[in-house]
Amino acid sequence: MNAGVGDMPRHRPVLYQETLSYLAPFSPGKYLDCTAGAGGHASGILEASAPQGRLLALDLDPHAVALTSARLAVFGERAVVRQGSYLHSREYLQDLGWGKVDGILLDLGVSSMQLDEANRGFSFRQEGPLDMRFDPGSGTSAADLVNHLEERELADILWKYGEERFSRRVAKAIVRARPLATTAELAGVVRSALGRTKEAQDPATRTFQALRIAVNNELAVITEAVPRLIALLQPSARIAVISFHSLEDRIIKQCFRRESQDCICPPEQPVCTCGHRASIKIITPHPVEAGETEKMENPRARSAKLRVAAKLMEMA
Ligand SMILES: C[S@@+](CC[C@H](N)C(=O)[O-])C[C@H]1O[C@@H](n2cnc3c(N)ncnc32)[C@H](O)[C@@H]1O
Repeated sequence: MNAGVGDMPRHRPVLYQETLSYLAPFSPGKYLDCTAGAGGHASGILEASAPQGRLLALDLDPHAVALTSARLAVFGERAVVRQGSYLHSREYLQDLGWGKVDGILLDLGVSSMQLDEANRGFSFRQEGPLDMRFDPGSGTSAADLVNHLEERELADILWKYGEERFSRRVAKAIVRARPLATTAELAGVVRSALGRTKEAQDPATRTFQALRIAVNNELAVITEAVPRLIALLQPSARIAVISFHSLEDRIIKQCFRRESQDCICPPEQPVCTCGHRASIKIITPHPVEAGETEKMENPRARSAKLRVAAKLMEMA
C-alpha cells in the first residue's frame, strides 16, 4: 500500500528524544534537517524552538517532501521544505538568506514509507520494479546496475557496500539470470545462489543494501557532505547524525575524529606540516543507541547509532 499525503506517516523517528535533547533547539534558532523523511524529527525541532525557531527541511524524495510539507504546514513560515540533496545545503541556505545555522540533523538511510512502497523497489519483501533511487526522477536505477555492470563490478559493489562474503557467487548468479526486472526476481536469484543458510536475516538483505547504496552513491555523498555541513554551523551549534550500518557509522566517526583534531599529519611525522585546525568538539565519544523499549517497538532502531559534535569558535 502506498503512503500518501494525509495518511498517517508510518515512519517513526528513531532516537527522537535523544536527538532533540542533544540539539537543544531554542527560539529564534535556525535549523537544518538534511533528511526530512516524514517530518517527524523536523516537527520536534520546530515545536522545541517555538515561537520563532525556523527550520529548512530537505529530502531527495518528492513523496517525502510532500509528506513533510503537509506535516509542517501547521508551523507556517517557520518551516521551509525543499526537494534536493543535503550535499547542496549551503546553496539552499543561501537562497533563504539564512547564513549559518544553530543545529543540523542528518538521519541517514531509507524510511519506512520508502520500504513500504512496492513501486520504489527498495524492499525484497514486496514485488516491485528494481528502482531504489531516493529521487526517482534522476540517476541510475538498480535495474540498470544489475543488468549492465560487468560481473566483477557487481561483485565489488556487493562486497564493499553489502559486506556480502559470497559476492562473487551472487554476482555470477545475477549475470546468468539477467535481464532482471523486479525485486522478487532479484531476491529469488540471490536466495538460490546462497542456498539454505542458518542466519536469521533474509540472505537477500546484503545485496539489496549494497545496490541501494550504489544507486544513490550514498557513502560518497556522506563523506563529502559532513565536512561541508560542519562549515554551516554557528559556533557551539551541534550536528547530530543517525546512521544504520557500520559503513555509514565508520565514515561519521572518522570524519568527526579528523575534524576534532588540530593536526592530521601521519603519526610517524615528527613535525606538523598539515596546518589543520580542529573545527568541532565530539559530544558523544561513543555512539548513542536506542533503549530496549524503542528497539522492541521499532525494529529500525535496533541498528541506529547517534553521533553528535559541536562547532568550535572559528579562529580569526
Ligand atoms: C531515515 S529517513 C529520515 C526520517 C526523518 N528523520 C523523519 O523523522 O521522518 C531518510 C531520508 O533521507 C532521504 N535522503 C537520502 N539521501 C538524501 C540526500 N542525499 N539528500 C536529501 N535527502 C536524502 C531519503 O529520501 C529519506 O526520506
